[in-house]
Amino acid sequence: MPAHEFTPTTLSLFSSMSTLIESSLITPDPSLDACLAASKAANLDPISVAPNEGKFLYLLTLLSRSKRVLEIGTLGGYSALWFAKAISPLKGGKIISLELSEEHAQIARVNISNAGYSETVEVRVGPALESLAAMKANEEGDFDLVFIDADKSQNVQYLEYALFLGKVGTVIVVDNVVRHGKVVNDDDAASKGVRAAFEWLRRCEKIQATALQTVGPKGWDGMVLGVVVE
Ligand code: SAH
Ligand code: DHB
Ligand code: MG
Repeated sequence: MPAHEFTPTTLSLFSSMSTLIESSLITPDPSLDACLAASKAANLDPISVAPNEGKFLYLLTLLSRSKRVLEIGTLGGYSALWFAKAISPLKGGKIISLELSEEHAQIARVNISNAGYSETVEVRVGPALESLAAMKANEEGDFDLVFIDADKSQNVQYLEYALFLGKVGTVIVVDNVVRHGKVVNDDDAASKGVRAAFEWLRRCEKIQATALQTVGPKGWDGMVLGVVVE
């Protein structure tokens, strides 16, 4: 966690709280642990959702009784595995996860296969906007839940596709909408992309949304949670 954000005492409490939450509420799962270990061994950036966030996504999937999940940004497949655990018992459940990097996609496919979810999760390689355009053209919509977690500069376009490919009731989650507070003022492409997404959501009457700030192993961040209402 970047140390400048909070005092050492606060940092240490955040860390202890993360441990308490994880050890109390998140049953150790060999396939999720193996996914993180393999991602680390492959030198992927350690930017998967945290375990408590993965479980949050799993709970949202159960709460919304989602069968079709669209993920934008696969990395090593950690969040995709959490979705898979929530939907795989449902007949016809499917996760389509979009990833730019062939290398990331290959690592994710191995992790997903080792966890036994190859039938449930399909990783598609390429710039997400191209994959999404193809999905729209092929009328591959009807997603119950969309998780946006790729290049933040394109968040607005991803939200637009979430509307095209969703329906009334579709749950939309956008990761990393705080970025250690950088989203307020910073002019890096990601922060600007998140601000543009907030502005787009402010104007969008079809989605009701809020955002929750979080602290955890990756520092201070947050997620937007929305639902398509019309
Ligand atoms: N959801 C993952 C983490 C994703 S990290 C998890 O929580 O486990 C972001 C991923 O988005 C990276 O793997 C990166 O390669 C990918 N990405 C970046 N730009 C992209 C683009 N234009 N299209 C598709 N994927 C992209
Ligand atoms: C970054 C990206 C993420 O999706 C994330 O959860 C954390 C960090 C990043 O690009 O720094
Ligand atoms: Mg993220």
